[in-house]
Amino acid sequence: MKNFSVGERTLAYDRIGAGTPLVLIHGFPLDHSIWDKVVPPLSVHFDLIIPDVRGFGESTSSASKWSMNDLAEDVARLLDHLKIESAFLAGHSMGGYIALAFAGIFPGRVRGIALVASQTAADAPEKQADRVKQAGQIARDGTGDTVAGMTAKLSSDVQVQKYVHDLMRKQESQGFIGSLHAMAGRTDTMAVLAESTYPVILIHGDSDALIPIQRAHDVQAAVPRAELVQLHEAGHMPMLEMPEQATEGLKRFL
Ligand code: MLT
Repeated sequence: MKNFSVGERTLAYDRIGAGTPLVLIHGFPLDHSIWDKVVPPLSVHFDLIIPDVRGFGESTSSASKWSMNDLAEDVARLLDHLKIESAFLAGHSMGGYIALAFAGIFPGRVRGIALVASQTAADAPEKQADRVKQAGQIARDGTGDTVAGMTAKLSSDVQVQKYVHDLMRKQESQGFIGSLHAMAGRTDTMAVLAESTYPVILIHGDSDALIPIQRAHDVQAAVPRAELVQLHEAGHMPMLEMPEQATEGLKRFL
């Protein structure tokens, strides 16, 4: 991976392929490698920029808390570093929250947004409180309980479960804690898409146990031009469970 410094922090990323820039932003609590299966076919069409989000993979953190807007600023820093003015953004779950925060701050830098198993809705107050509690539990006891609790919810495919379990176990607790605070504090971003004119793609499994496909239907209702790629029997990890269909979904940007 390549990297650059932001103050005391390192932001790591991969860059592969040629074409219009497309940033692939992973979700919680994972790293850039979740996209590995879709990178080869997409790299034929796009200049793929694939960061590790702050606190995950090889991207470090220097604080214990940050906001979704801070993570969006990291994406802007990465594009600035690469001298790229605007890009398509595809965000998986929390990565979608980052893409939407970026679009809210830098609308002119967005060529299109794909939400992969993600949503525009903010957390309900109980969910916010749960996230803050969970961050405290991780700070005390480590990430084991959170990883154990999430694994089966991410996918019903046992091979995917094993892969994401091992990937989550590799991540530092700092990334979990900072991301939980960022997710708890995020705002509703439906207006960001409703007021935009760029393409919007929704790639969502109809068996997603973490973010129900209804959230994609909600976006479609508010943003009629949003295209839904509904993946039958896929869970929360479409790029691992159905990589060919996820690739075809992202190629709708072309
Ligand atoms: C994710 O998969 O990125 C997160 O679980 C999403 C969330 O908790 O809202």
